[in-house]
Amino acid sequence: MPQATTIDLSFQWPTLGVCRVPYQVFTDPALYACEQARIFRGDAWHWVGLEVEAPSPGDFTTQHIGDTPVIMVRDAQGAMQVFINRCAHRGAMLCVESRGHANQFTCVYHNWTFDLAGRLRGVAFRHGIRNQGGLPPDFDFSAHGLHRLRVEVLHGLVFATFSEEVAPLPEYLGERMTAHIARIFNRPIRLLGRYRQFMHNNWKLYIENVKDTYHASILHLFLTTFGLNRLSMEGGLEISPCGGHHLSWSKRNVEDIAGTEYAQGTLRAMQQDFQLADPRLLQTWFEFPDGITNAIQGIFPNLVVQQIQNSLALRLMVPQGVDACELHWLLFGYADDTPEHTEMRLLQSNLVGPAGLVSMEDGMIGSWVQRTIAQDPEETAVLEMGGREVTRQGSRVSEASVRGFWQAYRTMMDL
Ligand code: FES
Ligand SMILES: [Fe+2]
Repeated sequence: MPQATTIDLSFQWPTLGVCRVPYQVFTDPALYACEQARIFRGDAWHWVGLEVEAPSPGDFTTQHIGDTPVIMVRDAQGAMQVFINRCAHRGAMLCVESRGHANQFTCVYHNWTFDLAGRLRGVAFRHGIRNQGGLPPDFDFSAHGLHRLRVEVLHGLVFATFSEEVAPLPEYLGERMTAHIARIFNRPIRLLGRYRQFMHNNWKLYIENVKDTYHASILHLFLTTFGLNRLSMEGGLEISPCGGHHLSWSKRNVEDIAGTEYAQGTLRAMQQDFQLADPRLLQTWFEFPDGITNAIQGIFPNLVVQQIQNSLALRLMVPQGVDACELHWLLFGYADDTPEHTEMRLLQSNLVGPAGLVSMEDGMIGSWVQRTIAQDPEETAVLEMGGREVTRQGSRVSEASVRGFWQAYRTMMDL
């Protein structure tokens, strides 16, 4: 249900296409409002949670689709339902907890009550007091349920959309991206923890960062120095036909650094004197038969599926206005993990997350960009690493998947 939000016609995408990105897209409140209508409420699927977070009827979590708060709940029949988290009476937020269990949802404002399928079941003082006040006798309860979204579940991941037109989820993702989700969610998972990371930048700067395979071993000294992820490892970059989804992967044990900048000692990130006081943080094991040790998947618009060694996570990037956003992390392992495996996953996740050495740097760099572009919205970023196309790449020395994001973005935004 894309809404007819108009864009200031003075905005024009540069003629060079997706290898130029006008800084205005990160600073313009009108474009931000348009994204809410055309992307977050438009023809896209949005991840809202995991089935395992709500194993029994009445279990719920709350999340956001763009700026819209939603509730994900397992209904009495065991199906996953997603509603706008807004009372159908006069709009109060219905559920303020981030997760829990409820037999019904009751609004604190005037006590309207909804069942797990979103139907209005009760209205306080419906018959008034002593025949005074109350609702008209013909008030139609069935016309005042919660706003329900279309839902699909894929390997335990629950997605929702406002759109009646968007293709079914596997088609939206495409075969390659669906197969990678099946690879990661290949057996029952166990949740290990969650945290949130506030960022002082537009949400798309972080999405660019995730899709930018080029920066990882340059900005993140840790990944390079300890040989966790270098561009000289065997790897690849795959991009969905629409451009919006990507998968970058590498194999830690298949590497040749001879003749590269890694061997020449010109990279800040390649510091030989950088040591860890506690080497347990680097303990890993090979757990996927394909030998891939790092795989970052970006699902348009704002979901990341992470495998960094044995640190598995989902990250959802929630916009919070034009120059702020919050990254929601959900760490997991598998139900059949040994305690030693769980320990290793948690230690590695500490390094990758916001209190470690990787995501802290991504948050910092986003804020640096946001601060420096603010005064020059008409200037542009340059995206020409790996060419000017949006195509599958044999090398990760490329910005092809960032260009892919902008291709999908321009299509949905009609820019
Ligand atoms: S706004 Fe929810 S009951 Fe009135
Ligand atoms: Fe990064």
